[in-house]
Parts: sequence; structure tokens; C-alpha cells
Amino acid sequence: METKWWHDAVVYQIYPRSFCDANGDGIGDLAGIIGKLDYLQTLGINVIWLSPVFRSPMDDNGYDISDYCDIAPEFGTLAEMDTLIAEAARRDIRIVMDLVVNHTSDEHPWFVEAKKSEDNPYRDYYIWRAPQADGSAPDTQRSYFGGSAWEFDAATGESYFHLFSKRQPDLNWANTKVQQEVHRMMNWWLDRGIGGFRMDVIDLIGKDVDAGITTNAPRLHPLLREMNAATFGDRDVLTVGEAWSATPEIAKLYSDPLRHELSMVFQFEHITITHDPVEGKWKPRAFDLREFKKVITKWQTALADTGWNSLFWCNHDLPRAVSKYGDPGRYRVESAKMLATALHFLRGTPYVYQGEEIGMTNVRFESIDDYRDIESLNLYRERTAAGVSHAAMMEGIYANGRDNARTPMQWDASDNAGFSSGQPWLKVNPNYCEINAAAALADRDSIFHHYRRLIALRKAHPAIVHGDYRPLFEAHPQVFAYERRLGDERIVVINNFTAQPVELELPAGLRGIPGKCLVSNYTPCSELGNDLVLQPYESFAIALDARAA
Ligand code: NOJ
Repeated sequence: METKWWHDAVVYQIYPRSFCDANGDGIGDLAGIIGKLDYLQTLGINVIWLSPVFRSPMDDNGYDISDYCDIAPEFGTLAEMDTLIAEAARRDIRIVMDLVVNHTSDEHPWFVEAKKSEDNPYRDYYIWRAPQADGSAPDTQRSYFGGSAWEFDAATGESYFHLFSKRQPDLNWANTKVQQEVHRMMNWWLDRGIGGFRMDVIDLIGKDVDAGITTNAPRLHPLLREMNAATFGDRDVLTVGEAWSATPEIAKLYSDPLRHELSMVFQFEHITITHDPVEGKWKPRAFDLREFKKVITKWQTALADTGWNSLFWCNHDLPRAVSKYGDPGRYRVESAKMLATALHFLRGTPYVYQGEEIGMTNVRFESIDDYRDIESLNLYRERTAAGVSHAAMMEGIYANGRDNARTPMQWDASDNAGFSSGQPWLKVNPNYCEINAAAALADRDSIFHHYRRLIALRKAHPAIVHGDYRPLFEAHPQVFAYERRLGDERIVVINNFTAQPVELELPAGLRGIPGKCLVSNYTPCSELGNDLVLQPYESFAIALDARAA
């Protein structure tokens, strides 16, 4: 496989609204991000995925774009965006922009025009259908944010399609003009020097509403190949598609370099195994380590020769990793480090979501009025009206609601966690005096410095990036362990996912083999002796001595 710069890259995701507010209006901004680039350089990341900063009415915090070629005033200006790109480049950091083209905002000029009349030249940029004879929606498709995916428009007597909020009308990708407009816009950004695109819900753009197909429709991959050819194909950038519906076979279609589509996709199988099969994320399912290991091994193995994995625990739509998979209380530090190690030694490109590197946790606001996320608010209304109790719905929000990830970044122990001198748009997590970046930077044993080591190790050991993956202790209910191997280099990674100590008998091929500890969350680091007793959430990686192994 041809080696690409993004194979050994580590990406840091910034949710701009919650990262750092430089002008005191309570909303994070570009100037705030520029002021924190040194922090990110210290961490060692070399790509920033920037969640949307484009002009937007912010119905979905910027995932509803009204002008793709301008910056939302609350975030800053185009000139500041250019400064961010340049200042990041000075630190060897590239900026990956969020490409949200399944839908626009209802305030986008295309939609404003499209609504005017059935024969408006922009009408066909969106998906319009007549209601059924009895006046009901054209079909039963539901929106991910609650209610029907069809919104009736009285002015023209037709309904438009929206898979997210009714203020996020879906673009009609069957229209070549839409394709060309998006390609032109992508090139405009590439010419500004960005490092690539994260592509929002990209598996939806091929949809065929008349056939009732939304994900993985026949048009999807041809559209991506056309996009590749018309925009980034001849530029050395990172592209990552959000693909909730991807199986390993589908992920290969996206990421096989010979197919000229994307660098990689985000797949979510390791996330959805913690959701109820019927009720989804609002009814959380206990984390089952054995199931998780099967999923990871399946993906590591399936994409070994063709395609590329992305690796992540969290993003702006998901709960905090330490709360979900670790212990946010007594073993917060140990378990956050363990989760980081377990993920960062896998094959693929790791993504760190802001605050993950300091072990930020989920939040429990008592009142639903303290939440801002459109999805949580809509679904709370819809489901409590349908009979789900307030308490049950709040438990769902505490476990999986999106605002868990969106509370302001905790920079220090000063007011509002140093995020803003004004009133933050979403309350700060009350634990900021203990959990914050300043404290983490000052403590050599912090989660932050653990991430820093992991990122540096990836750059230093090709086996982490390109080595084979072999699962160890596959049936063990508490331990996730694996070996990575490239030529003579062998790295063994062992993680206890529980608060209970574990006695582990090593297989003959590993027992007693000397090696060098690369990273550990306990001192001294364990050795591969005959009896291995793992402490709560203990985790370490050992590079085996090549001659002995
Ligand atoms: C996925 C994004 O990650 C999420 O935040 C957003 O609400 C939807 N796509 C719609 O754009």
C-alpha cells in the first residue's frame, strides 16, 4: 500500500462553539482556537478537524449552513480563518473542514429561492413531493431529529425532504447543478490551503426517496468518485466520511485507494453496540467488552490489506469516553489512559475529541432547560409526549445525549473554566476545578501527557501504523489485548477494562519474553512474566525484544 502522510497522523477535533472564546460573548471562536495552537502543538497532533464554522442560523450549531464561503460572525471572519490555516501550518498542523452537503440551512439562498415557486431555477436543488391524497406526508420516512422527514410548505402546496431538522432541507444530489456547486465550493476551500474534508453523513447523499432508500443507495459511490475527480483527487489531502451505515465491505468501497473515493470513513459499529436495538441511544445498553473486541477485530482484520480505519472513542455527537467505557470517578485517570492506549495502538488514524485528552466527563444537568442540543430537546419532547417518563428520558440524555461532549472546554480553574469571560452558551461541567488543561499540563502523570506519549510513539514506531494486528485473549471478559507486528518489531498491548484486578496467564509465545515498556498507566510497568496480575484499568504496551521473541 502506498504510504500517505495521514497514515501516521493524529487528528484533533475542535467543536468551535465550545473550545475557547476570545471575545467574551460566551461562544467559542476562531481567535480562541488560534490562541490555543501552541497547546495542540504540545500535544503533538498534526491535523485539526474543525466542526462547521460557516455562516449559519445555528439551528444545529453550524451543521445547518447558509453560506459555505463565509464564516459565521460569532466565530470570526474569513481573514481569521486564513490566519488559522497559516498559523496552524507554521506548526505543521493541517486544517480539515467539515463538509455538510447532505443538506443546507433553510436560510441558504438556494432554499430561499427554491421555496418561491415550483418553477424557480433552484427548486430542483432540493427534494419536493406532493402530499398524499388525504393530505398526509408523501411517505412515512422519519427525521433523525424527530417527526416526519417531510415538511409541508403551504405556499406551493408541496413538502420538502429533511432527514434532520426541518431547518435543514436535504439537497437533491440527483441534480448535476447541485454536484457542480458543491465541487466549486470544495475547490474554493482547497485553494485556501486546507488539509481536507470531514464529510458529514456522506452515506446519505445517494438517497433515492421514491425507492425509500436513504443510506448506501446505488448513486452514492459514483457521486463520490465524481467528487474526487472534480476536487481533491489530485491533491494530497485527508478525507473522512461519516458513515453510520458502513460495514467493513462498504468501508472498503470508500477507502480502497484504487477506487478514488475517500481516505477513510468513520464507522460506528463499536458505538451502536451500546444502543438498544429498537429504542436506539436513548435506551442505553450495557457495554459488553467481548462484543466490542469482536467488532474491533473484525474491522482491523477486514481492512488489513485494502482500505484504512479511523479510530475514535468520541466526537461532538457522542458521550465522553471515560464516562461511557471507563470510570469517571475513582479510576478516572487510570481508565482514561487505558482507553487511550487501547485505541492508539490500533491500525488506522486516531482522532482525539477536544477535552478527551484531559479526561473530561459527561454532565448531568437536572433540568431539561439547561440543555441546548436540538436532538435531545426534540426527542425529549416527542418521547415524553408518547409516554416515556421524564426520568427515563433524562437517563438516556445523561448516558448518550450530545451536550455531554459540548460543555465548554475546561482550560483552568478560573470562572467558566477559563473558556469565556462571558456567560457560556452551555453550562460548564461543575468538575472543572479538578479537571482542566492547566492542571493536566503541570502534572507529568496526567492523562494529557499520556496522550502526548502515545502520539509520539505512533510517529516513532512503524509497527503501530502499519503492523499486522493479532488479537490476544479473545474470549476474556475483562481484558482487551492484541499484538502488532511489522518485520522484527512486535508490540504487545494489554488493557484491563474493569476495576477488578485480573490474573492473566500468558500464552507460551509471550510468557517471560523480555521487552521494553513503551507506555503504562501504572509504575512500574508490568513485565510479561509467568504470572501477570493486572491492576484496576491497568494498561501497557511492550515492545518485545526482537532477539528473544
Ligand atoms: C452529523 C453531525 O455530526 C451532527 O452533529 C449533525 O447534527 C448531523 N450530522 C446533521 O448535520
